[in-house]
Amino acid sequence: MDEHRREVEPPRCRGQVGVEGNPLHVALIMDGNGRWANERGLPRTEGHRAGEVALMDTIAGAIEAGVRYLSVYAFSTENWRRSPTEVRFLMGYSKDVLRRRRDELNRWGVRVRWSGRSPRLWSSVIKELRAAEELTADNDVLDFIMCVNYGGRAELADAAAAIAREARQGRLDPAKVTEKTLARRLYLPDVPDVDLVIRTSGEQRMSNFLPWQAAYAELLFVSDPWPTYGRDKLRRDLEAFGGRQRRFGGAVDALASCETAAGAAREG
Ligand code: FPP
Repeated sequence: MDEHRREVEPPRCRGQVGVEGNPLHVALIMDGNGRWANERGLPRTEGHRAGEVALMDTIAGAIEAGVRYLSVYAFSTENWRRSPTEVRFLMGYSKDVLRRRRDELNRWGVRVRWSGRSPRLWSSVIKELRAAEELTADNDVLDFIMCVNYGGRAELADAAAAIAREARQGRLDPAKVTEKTLARRLYLPDVPDVDLVIRTSGEQRMSNFLPWQAAYAELLFVSDPWPTYGRDKLRRDLEAFGGRQRRFGGAVDALASCETAAGAAREG
């Protein structure tokens, strides 16, 4: 069977958004595809293919848990340093995933959004990102933010450049620049700060991912390689987050409400 094209079970229910202690915005560093594949004697690209199923299952899990924003690091501004073959594969594959999965994501109520820079990014990838954004623009179950050709320092430099431009044009007073001035010039200014960053595959670093938005985020570094990730592991990791937050409120409520809804749906 063509494993990576495998169908993914849709979200079993919709979790409650905004329950105290529940992370509103989760950011994922989907690491370990290459190592997972190589350990099985497969080319690195097979790891990325398996990563697609993991990603879809995780999106379904995020919906079940009532996560409202899910950001994923699909391709960083540093990933251009990879071999031309792998870069070509990742560009072509992103295009392919967007085209094949957009209707499914639309059915799930997911709004697809792109965060990143256009220079260098394949125009055909930008076209698919825009098409998915357009198709899903009115959805409000989960904002799925694909960070493609994204770099945190690049985003901050772009915001600083926009401020400098506006100051030069006399549209902004440099003396009145505050944190808000910069935050409003990020790629997606309406998206709230990240509550939880999860990085798979054992490395413990941020790799230039959402430095502004994740300044106060909880960090979880898990050993699972990305292709083995999915809704069950997300649920486990949200419980760990709930444990950290429990002195401020309970995240488990959101999951319990989802279970109740799923149970009711099964019985009904
Ligand atoms: C990191 O693993 C993964 C990536 C750079 C790409 C992420 C891509 C997917 C999950 C594929 C499906 C999804 C989309 C959005 C196209 P790595 O290659 O750095 O693994 P390694 O650390 O083992 O080398």
